[in-house]
Amino acid sequence: MAKTAFENVYYWEGKAQIPQEGQFIKLKEDNTLEVPDNPIIPFVEGDGIGPEITPAMILVVNTAVEKTYNGSKRIHWVEVLAGDKADEKVGERLPQETLDVLKESIVAIKGPLGTPVGKGVKSINSALRRAFNYYSAVRPVYWMGQPTPIPNPERVDLVVFRENTDDVYAGIEFFSGTPEAQKVREFLIKEMGASEEGFPEDVGITVKPMSEFKTKRHVRKALRYALENGKKNVAVIGKGNIMKATEGAFINWAFEVAEEPEFKGKVITDPEAEPGEGQVKLVKVITDQMLMQLVLRPEAWDVIIAENLNGDYVSDLAASLIGGPGFVPSGNIGDGYALFESTHGTAWDIAGKGIANPLSITLSGAMMLEYLGWKEAADKIYEAVRKTLADRIGTPDIAGGFQKQGIEAKAVGTMEFAEEIAKRIA
Ligand code: NAI
Repeated sequence: MAKTAFENVYYWEGKAQIPQEGQFIKLKEDNTLEVPDNPIIPFVEGDGIGPEITPAMILVVNTAVEKTYNGSKRIHWVEVLAGDKADEKVGERLPQETLDVLKESIVAIKGPLGTPVGKGVKSINSALRRAFNYYSAVRPVYWMGQPTPIPNPERVDLVVFRENTDDVYAGIEFFSGTPEAQKVREFLIKEMGASEEGFPEDVGITVKPMSEFKTKRHVRKALRYALENGKKNVAVIGKGNIMKATEGAFINWAFEVAEEPEFKGKVITDPEAEPGEGQVKLVKVITDQMLMQLVLRPEAWDVIIAENLNGDYVSDLAASLIGGPGFVPSGNIGDGYALFESTHGTAWDIAGKGIANPLSITLSGAMMLEYLGWKEAADKIYEAVRKTLADRIGTPDIAGGFQKQGIEAKAVGTMEFAEEIAKRIA
């Protein structure tokens, strides 16, 4: 297993090793962070390719922080257990200790965690989201020079804000043929005016709840991001024409947020107007329209605000435009609490071979640095990744992609790719 040789990485040994030299990030009353120069950042290696890509990320992030701050700032990485490794070491997949350390540390990063199918094992990713109320999944999608399925991929530079706690994610389902489905069906027909035709006896029912409170806090996060980062074109998406009480309401609530004192005058909603300096424009787009537009003119959008299910479709389509989820970082962000993670899964088919692409988690590491306010260090990572890809060096998936396009490229292993990136950090 590849391990980083850095002295600021504290692997789990019988328990999480909290270093004396590190300090915990503090959450201020307004949910912003007070970040010390020596923050403790917990990491979960992850299952499958996790033990290969996570050390690669640490190498790149450490190098960028060192080169930017010359030792005056330094992350103290503390391993916490989850998934297969936790099961193996302590007999449970999400130990209380991990939850305790994550709570104290506020900000953390993780590799992919598998959900064994059919073993009654609950998703750890969902459990973490619930425990820390990471209500927005933030997915920046931008091109760094990798091979892509579309021409002029530099046109793609947007961030999808996917709601993480509402919608079908929080819903309930009743399977066809069960007494529960019959009970709900009868209630809907007898008391709520539903038709027999729409709800025949063999119906299965999924309930899709969406709430004003959860929608608005998510929308505020996205609009703040757009304003703080000089983004201009923001779309709120949904099938509001079909699902008026949920997706239609989602869109209406988004426009209500635009009228709140914090945003009034800064978020313009006239579709014909051009946003001025310090302004963003919020428009509504039907989800299927957005999926088409992303393929035909992705340059039109800077920020896309979506509820849970639409956010899933849109973020995967956007990611595939620039080569797939292997190149896209992700942050699950709530009121201050944040967990950054790779967007792909555990990739067991290539695990242990040293060939996994570490970019998703590495770019998530850069996103985490931005979240800490260490943007200069994050920028160094972006630049170095661009240079490495421009030099046509990458893991076999990347090199193979170039070669398919007739471009010569050098295939290297996971750690070697990270070293090549680190070498280019100036
Ligand atoms: P997957 O992403 O693990 O694999 C799909 C394909 O992409 C495989 O051929 C794999 O080799 C390739 N791939 C994925 N990441 C790669 C990388 N970094 N470099 C090179 N190739 C890569 O998706 P799958 O098979 O659907 O899921 C496997 C497991 O991962 C499941 O248990 C699933 O629940 C879990 N998962 C976890 C996520 C998380 O922790 N955030 C997200 C998605 C899936």
